Amino acid sequence: MGIISTKYLLQRARKEKWAVPAFNIHNAETIQAVLEACHERRSPVMLAGTPSTFKHISCPDMLALCRSYSERFQMPVILHLDHHEVYEDIVNKVNGGVRSAMIDGSHLPFEENIILVRRVTEYCHHMDCSVEAELGLLGGIEDDKDVDAAHSFLTDPQQAVAFVERTGIDSLAVAIGTAHGLYTQRPEIDFARLEKIGQLLSIPLVLHGGSGVPDEDVIQSIKLGIAKVNVGTELKIAFAGAVKAYFAENPDASDPRFYMRKGMDAMKEVVHHKITLCGSEGRLGLGDKQ
Ligand code: 13P
Repeated sequence: MGIISTKYLLQRARKEKWAVPAFNIHNAETIQAVLEACHERRSPVMLAGTPSTFKHISCPDMLALCRSYSERFQMPVILHLDHHEVYEDIVNKVNGGVRSAMIDGSHLPFEENIILVRRVTEYCHHMDCSVEAELGLLGGIEDDKDVDAAHSFLTDPQQAVAFVERTGIDSLAVAIGTAHGLYTQRPEIDFARLEKIGQLLSIPLVLHGGSGVPDEDVIQSIKLGIAKVNVGTELKIAFAGAVKAYFAENPDASDPRFYMRKGMDAMKEVVHHKITLCGSEGRLGLGDKQ
């Protein structure tokens, strides 16, 4: 038990055409809700924290919680650094025990993105930490970043091959038409582009902006090489919605054990649904080692 890397798990998922769900978590309750659902379904899972999550709850506290839940649920826990951009920040967190990191240089020019990612990969691999990076730039709001549609761009398949070769990353986040946050209309996923990238690259591919992507599109993406599906916004909306409804019905309530539980249960429903979409049920323990 304890904190593990994702390298072999994601490789196995890609090979067998299912995906590991990665959920954005923010505090003890959201970690617990996600792990309860994954434990019930025997599903592997990645708990993803953005840089501002670790301002809300420190990385050592988060790691301590994950280790404790790992024992309690008798399952390895993957704490993943989502959209981290600073080398020193990743090094500090990896030194503290994190074993799965995304270095996001997608806003940088191609060569600068490669230099940054290569540097992070060299350090992380030496610490048995798996590395995800992004090529192309997703639109939408993630953490404190807002990328408008005019500045977002899709992943170029040939560039992706060079990027993976030159950086040595373990998984690649692709920009294929999804965006972070809520969609105002149905996202148009460029499946032809994803298929091409999937044919050229054998490493696991990552779908960001999983909230609001139609179920059939998630399933089709997994068939074409997506091995990790990121979901954040849908969980927050479910949690907050249930808490708001509870207070609407119980305006004088004040006990967090009651209103938090409502939020957690609503969040769990979303987690259960995403596990079904990812086909990750019953896969716990697969790929923890080579
Ligand atoms: P959503 O909030 O749109 O689900 O995106 C989550 C994500 O991609 C985290 O990296």
